[in-house]
Amino acid sequence: MDSHIASNPERAEAHYQSRQGKALMADTAATATHETAGETQDGIRRRDFLDIAAVSAAGIGGLAVVYPLVSQMAPSKDVLAASTTEVDVSAVEPGQAIKAVFRKQPLFIRRLTAQEIAEANARPLSSLRDPETLADRTKEGREDMLVTMGVCTHLGCVPLGAAEGEVKGEFGGYFCPCHGSHYDTAGRIIKGPAPTNLEVPEYEFTSDTVIQVG
Ligand code: FES
Repeated sequence: MDSHIASNPERAEAHYQSRQGKALMADTAATATHETAGETQDGIRRRDFLDIAAVSAAGIGGLAVVYPLVSQMAPSKDVLAASTTEVDVSAVEPGQAIKAVFRKQPLFIRRLTAQEIAEANARPLSSLRDPETLADRTKEGREDMLVTMGVCTHLGCVPLGAAEGEVKGEFGGYFCPCHGSHYDTAGRIIKGPAPTNLEVPEYEFTSDTVIQVG
């Protein structure tokens, strides 16, 4: 403090008030600056949170929309499980047949005897309503193994002839009693209203004794 201020009590008081005022203003400014920065930081944090929350919500919303679409497009477990059928044919002797299920429909797997193969091969293609050779309907080297759907091509009945003791019809293959369709040993329609041969599904031998259908 200047000496002339110290010697004048009124001036000294004014000087003191002035300094106090400046100090108060400085504190206020500092506080204001601090609060402004704090609000900015808080504001940024709040906005960040809101942005992240919005993105998260959009992400969840996106998933919620996309999942049902993907889910609907994906084949169900039932469909996947039913799309192929494996059958062990090691126990099927010549002259025997077994029934299986492929895509919820009956499947016949028949092992032909040498005589049945000969009868099928002896039939002229020109005599057939739906001309196919036995070779066309079996795998190369496995003409003895006839794999067909067990569904009559007329109106969908299950023909007889796959189980032991069942009637095989006039041509030794399969017989559909619903309206009298007769199939030969290659599963080809020979007589009756059925328009086409018993269907041969897609299949392959995965080993000498296992067939995978579908
Ligand atoms: S459904 Fe087989 S003959 Fe009609």
